[in-house]
Amino acid sequence: MSRLTLHLGQTLWFAGDPMIEGPEAARFDPRGGIVVQDGHVLSRGTSDDLRRDYPQAVVEDHGQALILPGFVDAHMHYPQTAMIASWGKRLIDWLNTYTFPEEMRFADADYAAEIAGRYLDLALSHGTTTMCSYCTIHPESVDAYFTAAAARGMRVLGGKTCMDRNAPDGLLDTAQSAYDDSKALLNRWHGQGRASYVITPRFSPTSTPEQLTALGALWAEHPDCLMQTHLSEQTDEIAWVRGLYPEARDYLDTYEAHGLLGANGLYGHAIHLEPRERDRLREVGAALIHCPTSNTFIGSGLFDMEGLVAEGQRVGLATDTGGGSSFSMLRTMAAAYEIAQLRGMALHPSALLWLATEGSARSLRVADRVGTLAPGSEADFITLDLGSTPAIAQRSAQAADFWEAVFPTIMMGDDRAVSGVWVMGKRLG
Ligand code: GUN
Ligand code: ZN
Repeated sequence: MSRLTLHLGQTLWFAGDPMIEGPEAARFDPRGGIVVQDGHVLSRGTSDDLRRDYPQAVVEDHGQALILPGFVDAHMHYPQTAMIASWGKRLIDWLNTYTFPEEMRFADADYAAEIAGRYLDLALSHGTTTMCSYCTIHPESVDAYFTAAAARGMRVLGGKTCMDRNAPDGLLDTAQSAYDDSKALLNRWHGQGRASYVITPRFSPTSTPEQLTALGALWAEHPDCLMQTHLSEQTDEIAWVRGLYPEARDYLDTYEAHGLLGANGLYGHAIHLEPRERDRLREVGAALIHCPTSNTFIGSGLFDMEGLVAEGQRVGLATDTGGGSSFSMLRTMAAAYEIAQLRGMALHPSALLWLATEGSARSLRVADRVGTLAPGSEADFITLDLGSTPAIAQRSAQAADFWEAVFPTIMMGDDRAVSGVWVMGKRLG
């Protein structure tokens, strides 16, 4: 029998959805653990039960640390790693000034490999073990990403960003080449090891209707794939879309009319939605990806978490690196809390932790594998030190209960709080 490892610490898991059921959906064990075998979770329970049932297991005792699933980042751009935190622009200017010049550099496969490795190591050090990334228009950027992830054994999702207008010459493909390149990459990477290919039109302003149609056709051929794009992030972006697609009923209709609305669709930002758009997104069961540090950094607006969840939308959480200002899903949870506060809602820590793990995994349709530590899932997990800085430690020392002990780390924590990272049961950080 292969080796068993018993990881002990504080454990938290969800018997339901705390966004809907509240903190009652959470299960907390101050002395719990997981048993890992062959890269998978074999069992989860109390320390006493697991020690009794698996006496042969090698014990790794993490003391007071909180054992959590690795964070899942449902929307980010790994090619924007090197230009994160670029000052002073709104979306369209920010893209033209900082983002597109940086993305042009990914024509160089060596540069793409360097940044892919740099990004994945940064993500791991922040406790993120699965992410869904936009690459650039260059197929080499997709190969670099999946190759770097495979070298680390990580479950990742992503795809070639497609753009055939309103971007610099070096960053344009065509309707046909976007279809052909995406299809070749999909065939090369989708289901290869832990990789999933995601069909990726950047957003309506940088695609012609012909390109959207071609990518809609590709999605129809591969309906099991996810499709990701951006939707209604800034008001001037929406006005631009109206000008480019005068026949469309609204922004979402530019996707819907071209076969790019569906249950496996991921719509990043989704801030300024019309009632018809909300209805259609809910009807099809699409996922809306909230990117709170990006929304404050680029000045986009306040995502309606309370209203969208109440009406039954599926929601994931993401950094949107490098429009987002952090690689950390802890910082991202803090920003989600702050944005919800500005709309009059206090998001409970259980909801924030769920969003950063199981919720995002559900939005990416991988929650049967990652984002929970349910028996049978892949053993991607982290340990969180709930007193990682003097400021956090002095506050959590005053905590009346578990939620008060964890909330200072959500609000003030960063990579220093991540004391251990395991991917498929193997320690990587
Ligand atoms: N909309 C289209 N492209 C992007 C991007 O790279 N980042 C953000 N935040 N919004 C976008
Ligand atoms: Zn984005």
